[in-house]
Amino acid sequence: MRPPFVITVDGPAASGKGTVASGLAAVYGLPMLDSGLLYRAVGVLAQRAGLDLDDAAAAAGIAQGLTVGQLTDPAFRTRAAGEAASRVAVHPAVRLALRELQLSFARRPGGAVLDGRDQGTVICPEAPAKLYVSASPEVRATRRWKQLAAQGEAVTYDEILADIVRRDERDGSRADSPMRPAPDAVLLDTSEMTIEQAADAARRIVEAARARWEAS
Ligand code: DC
Repeated sequence: MRPPFVITVDGPAASGKGTVASGLAAVYGLPMLDSGLLYRAVGVLAQRAGLDLDDAAAAAGIAQGLTVGQLTDPAFRTRAAGEAASRVAVHPAVRLALRELQLSFARRPGGAVLDGRDQGTVICPEAPAKLYVSASPEVRATRRWKQLAAQGEAVTYDEILADIVRRDERDGSRADSPMRPAPDAVLLDTSEMTIEQAADAARRIVEAARARWEAS
């Protein structure tokens, strides 16, 4: 029996992976899990409860009670939420608490698109299609700055660039499930691409993987 057709899309903040992942989900008619939102929710809910983000057990307690239905709060999309997410994401107990939810999504019989940092390496290493989407820190900072400005956040480009560099460093150097491409992931650098070009390139990569999967 071949595994469900799962597409993993990993990569750093503002690389375009969210756009690529939702485009693929629409093309293939697959449900999508934005796993970053899980960590964002834990970070924001922990802060709202007055907890210290460095307190692994407290953050894990929040993670254990989290459901997919809770992920719609716009507060999870802010700059502060991204930073809080990256901080709670270093705790193995938090990652463990969020694991089952991600695994059950990855095991949906009809397949799924999983977006994050460790989807292809840790959550679903058996996924037939894996992408690692990246772009230069400067390009990512420009994109994120425009997005946050459109949401009404008053923040400078330099502050965003510093956020991105700090987050890359923290997400890439943590001991548990660091951000990195799976050995069989196809790398997609979107620095010089428009959204449409990135979406097209991603679709071509996934088409090739789907043909291999269908023949398996
Ligand atoms: O993709 P994002 O910006 O929404 O992710 C926010 C943070 O959550 C990111 O900086 C690190 C963490 N994260 C993670 O550790 N593992 C994932 N699969 C997804 C996100």
